[in-house]
Amino acid sequence: MKYIKLSVLIIAFIIASCTKKQSKEIMIASPNNTIEIKFNLLENGEPTYLVNYKNNEVIKPSTLGFDLKDQPSLKEKFEIINTVSSNFNETWQMPWGEQLDVVNNYNELKVELQETSKLKRKLNIIFRVFDDGIGFRYEFPEQENLKEVFITDENTQFNLTGNHLVWWTPGDWDIYEHLFNTTKFSEIDALSKANHPNLGQTYIPLNAVNTPVTMKTASGLHLSFHEAALVDYADMTLKVDTTNFRMTSGLVGSENRDYKVARTVPFETPWRTIQIAEKAGDLIESKLIVNLNEPNKLGDVSAWVKPTKYTGIWWEMHLGKSTWDMSAQQDMTSYTTELKPHGKHGATTENAKAFIDFSAKNNIGAVLVEGWNTGWEHWIGFEDREGVFDFVTPYPDYDLKEVVRYGKEKGVEIIMHHETSAAIQTYEKQQDTAYALMQSLGIHAVKTGYVGKILPKGEYHHGQYMVNQYNNAVIKAANYQVAINAHEPIKDTGLRRTYPNTISREGLRGQEFNAWATDGGNPAEHLPIVAFTRMLAGPIDYTPGIFDIKFDKWKVENQVNTTIAQQLALYVVIYSPIQMAADLIENYEGNPAFKFIKDVGVDWQQTKVLNGEVGDFVTIARKERTSENWFVGGITDENAREMELNFDFLSPDTTYEAIIYEDGVDAHWDKNPTSINIKTIEINNQSIIKMKLAPGGGFAISLKSKK
Ligand code: NOJ
Ligand code: CA
Repeated sequence: MKYIKLSVLIIAFIIASCTKKQSKEIMIASPNNTIEIKFNLLENGEPTYLVNYKNNEVIKPSTLGFDLKDQPSLKEKFEIINTVSSNFNETWQMPWGEQLDVVNNYNELKVELQETSKLKRKLNIIFRVFDDGIGFRYEFPEQENLKEVFITDENTQFNLTGNHLVWWTPGDWDIYEHLFNTTKFSEIDALSKANHPNLGQTYIPLNAVNTPVTMKTASGLHLSFHEAALVDYADMTLKVDTTNFRMTSGLVGSENRDYKVARTVPFETPWRTIQIAEKAGDLIESKLIVNLNEPNKLGDVSAWVKPTKYTGIWWEMHLGKSTWDMSAQQDMTSYTTELKPHGKHGATTENAKAFIDFSAKNNIGAVLVEGWNTGWEHWIGFEDREGVFDFVTPYPDYDLKEVVRYGKEKGVEIIMHHETSAAIQTYEKQQDTAYALMQSLGIHAVKTGYVGKILPKGEYHHGQYMVNQYNNAVIKAANYQVAINAHEPIKDTGLRRTYPNTISREGLRGQEFNAWATDGGNPAEHLPIVAFTRMLAGPIDYTPGIFDIKFDKWKVENQVNTTIAQQLALYVVIYSPIQMAADLIENYEGNPAFKFIKDVGVDWQQTKVLNGEVGDFVTIARKERTSENWFVGGITDENAREMELNFDFLSPDTTYEAIIYEDGVDAHWDKNPTSINIKTIEINNQSIIKMKLAPGGGFAISLKSKK
């Protein structure tokens, strides 16, 4: 492959100090030398590392190690038995994504440790240093005295250099759908976020945060902590010591076991990652997380994994216009004996065909249909949820085959929906049958859902048991050429590189909270935080595009807390290869702003973050893969803003027809959210224009090449 340039060679490592017996500081730096890691053993043989950025500490000496069940801890009395240094430089291509070519360039140091004590157990630590951050993982190599491990605690420390400003969500073991909090590190109080009323399930056992967690230091440096390649392991939350400015890995556990992770040796842990950037926008452009994942294992998926926009029978249920269930008695007895239609069922053949017609007319490739299968009368809040959904039996008023056939005739795909209601064994048993049905119908994507407490009882959404469930579903689905968009998922750790049928996921407070949350929905600052936190993990199924911002006809007490122009901007700002046009189709008909949704791309050649500050504003430009067209989206928080946009990133000698969708002069997320101004101008790479964003506002620009 012409893009792959692989060179592995031994690079020098520096033994900086050998003052104490056995104390060898080993240094490894990034290819451009701005970031360096120093590894050392303390006097008691405990491994430690520190991280410098431009010669200033960003992570102070921090220790590494494990507590194990029925075994002494694996954390001290080590000696270094070998070190291997190498470098790596390749350019790989994303089958779909924010950009086509990805540079993966790092220096690696593998430190092989062995206990000096009688057991002589071994542990390797592998560091990779990139120009935009670092990753490190533990490797348990094959050895005599360690065959099985039951990890009760991973003790990876991240000692911070000060009381940074932090954008955080609580370290919930069961859900990521919390609002972000902006506080000093010393003020993080995750336990105060327990038992939020609008969450399907929640469990916050201690003062910890979920990742990605992003911070800004006093000197203006941005750090984001996360993990990559979470496979057969538990999700890592970060426990917070507010006095010593220390974070320590806190693995998600289970009530059914007295350990967090069980593995057979040899194995490797996920990568622990720190993205480091001077400009906040560079965090978004960084590809560190995908780079730390293994290359594509599925081969060419282009025939069945297709980026697309989609509409759906979805928002209408969240508004209460229609229901998922056909008989709405929420009672198993009446549901099994007789289904009495109440007339409000959303997923009817007729309604699905209306969505197909609308999508076909408007350059939208797919329709999601929720509530199509039997079981919704008894899906939530019941203990006996196993066996309720079967993923193959449509309600009598929904002709699945006819809907798919009609869609194919119009060039519109159907996106399948599998709400498991967290009844895991039922889903696991039925996956083959369900995915085979999809394949037989030519359906290539499914939105899965995991609402509720996990059955089997005692498991949490983010523990090792569920990590394996989510990953196995993706692998199994690939056998049937099915791509997965998971809701209530495990967090994204870049596995889309390895399994490119992992198209998108939720894993944050999505648009749906605006329809029904009792806490006022998602505030205007939500997405300007999400772009620099959750979005660093990977694609987000946020479901943008709500035009009827106040939806008073359905719910007077709720609304979307942005302007309509910001809803358009989200198609560019919030990345996903599948983007929903989420509103009711009647709210799009006849609205000139809908032209942007019709035109906007979903698969990108290039991405550039033009400006941004975490929690305040961000502007992103993306170039479509299949054309010379660019799209730009900008969003702000509750503050109005003016900014200059410099189009010097455009190709020279090309004139673009730019359609600008901007907040009207009187626009305001609450007082006047639908005020929008649409104008067409010419733009080239010399152009600099001024944009005005209303409180909770934004703008979207489509740039069509005239060459
Ligand atoms: C929660 C999901 O986030 C939402 O999109 C879906 O409509 C419901 N569960 C029902 O599956
Ligand atoms: Ca959800």
